Amino acid sequence: MISIKNLVKIFKSASDSVRAVDGVTLDIGEREFFVLLGLSGSGKTTLLRCVAGLEKPDGGEIAIGNTLVSSAERKFFIGPEGRGLGMVFQSYAVWPHMSVFQNVAFPLINGPYRMSRAEVKKKVMTALDMVQLAGLADRPAPFLSGGQQQRVALARALAVEPKVLLMDEPLSNLDARLREEVRDEIKNLSNKFGIAVLYVTHDQVEAMALADRVAVMSKGKVLQCAPPRELYDAPSSREVCEFLGATNLLDGFVSNGGQVDTDLGQLACAISDGNLRNVSVAIRPEELQMAAAPTGLENEFAAEVLSSTFLGELTVCDVKVNGRILRFKTTQSAAPARQVYIRLPADKLKLFAR
Ligand SMILES: Nc1ncnc2c1ncn2[C@@H]1O[C@H](COP(=O)(O)OP(=O)(O)O)[C@@H](O)[C@H]1O
Ligand SMILES: [Mg+2]
Repeated sequence: MISIKNLVKIFKSASDSVRAVDGVTLDIGEREFFVLLGLSGSGKTTLLRCVAGLEKPDGGEIAIGNTLVSSAERKFFIGPEGRGLGMVFQSYAVWPHMSVFQNVAFPLINGPYRMSRAEVKKKVMTALDMVQLAGLADRPAPFLSGGQQQRVALARALAVEPKVLLMDEPLSNLDARLREEVRDEIKNLSNKFGIAVLYVTHDQVEAMALADRVAVMSKGKVLQCAPPRELYDAPSSREVCEFLGATNLLDGFVSNGGQVDTDLGQLACAISDGNLRNVSVAIRPEELQMAAAPTGLENEFAAEVLSSTFLGELTVCDVKVNGRILRFKTTQSAAPARQVYIRLPADKLKLFAR
């Protein structure tokens, strides 16, 4: 539905130039919920604005549906009004001097659509219904909570019945509880509509909860693009691994026979790449195993529990193994003993070249 080829966007100033988007190629499916995930400054917003037609790329092409909307090489560019997209941004951008109804009606009345009053009314009320705000149509926009304002922005984007919805950190101004509620609503609506969504966030939990596929961005480039589970279980680099959640990392080097020498001691690992020498070994806190007595299985070490924090559904412990501190997470709530055995199951260890 959205096809991006070799996209480049450079910002030049007197002193330097930034390749905000640096050769990105992505294909987003017709009904796909696609998330761009990355730290602040990684180029997510710029990429989204290029798709929207709010930035003119310096290289590459963008097509929406089967229509080419931008080609730097062919000097071809269609502006935002001609792209038929819905957009929701971080700030609600709800107009304060208008009612909820007028806010949602605005793009229908002022866009290229030329609709009758009755048609506008029908589309606005349908959109408000979808975000459960039909009862508040006449309320002045400032008299809404943050979550309600963001839903108005969502209704306004959906009212034009776009084939593609672009969203840039739409939840970041909401408090934690509302954020989850509106997040679930966005997911439900996108399922119901079967539209393509291109969604930007720096929050990996949000990305995992929403996405069919995630592209992890850094310095204008896509590091890896995959469904959330695959990114989490099989990150292609240490950077992606660390970005997707807490990780224990150990430096080591591969010795013969499938062993890696680390600060902890020798670890048995499944080594798929025969060229690996200097490596980082990664294991997630919930993948460690803890036992009160030795089990005799591989990669097990005596450990001292330094701290144990009960968080309700989870207990998080810091344990010291041969001078190294590892983070351990478990759903068992009983406090562990001070002396325990920690195991790093060989099949859970991820190896990255260092
Ligand atoms: N209008 C602009 N002028 C100059 N530099 C910009 C502009 N917009 C973004 N940048 C730079 O481009 C890079 C990517 O920014 P951005 O796309 O906003 O990242 P993100 O949304 O991932 O935080 C940053 O280094 C930023 O400073
Ligand atoms: Mg941004």
